[in-house]
Amino acid sequence: MPVTSNRKHFWYFLLSLGGVMGIGFFIAFLYAAPAMPLNEEHTTSLNTDTCVSCHLVGDEATPAMPHRPFPGCRICHGE
Ligand code: HEC
Ligand code: HEC
Repeated sequence: MPVTSNRKHFWYFLLSLGGVMGIGFFIAFLYAAPAMPLNEEHTTSLNTDTCVSCHLVGDEATPAMPHRPFPGCRICHGE
């Protein structure tokens, strides 16, 4: 049986709902990132490798990052 036009539109509608949810989750994830605290560790000019060197594993004082090392940090954890 050929897919009727109505049914096609239904699946496109469902697909766009999924797309909206995907974008929503992505934006929510960006907002969930805490800003870096403005202490001396974070105010001096740093590149991503220095961030990772402290935060890949972490210790009692340093929280470990709960996600993979992204190629940049400031998009999400910016000042
Ligand atoms: C010299 C080690 C060091 C470097 C380099 C460093 N951090 Fe941190 N970071 C810390 C420590 C220590 C803390 C905990 C400080 C606190 O809680 O006051 C921390 C806390 C954080 C937090 C947690 C904030 C919160 O409210 O939970 C984030 C996010 C963060 N750092 C991101 C970064 C980013 C991004 C960079 C690179 C631009 C970076 N850090 C570089 C040591 C470092
Ligand atoms: C795509 C956005 C994004 C990028 C890029 C990103 N982070 Fe995060 N980061 C998050 C989110 C969201 C959380 C909070 C996760 C949670 O609470 O479960 C987080 C949590 C953290 C924490 C833990 C903070 C705490 O108080 O426990 C650290 C440390 C951290 N990130 C470091 C980094 C470093 C270093 C980089 C760069 C290599 C980086 N992040 C890049 C989104 C991001």
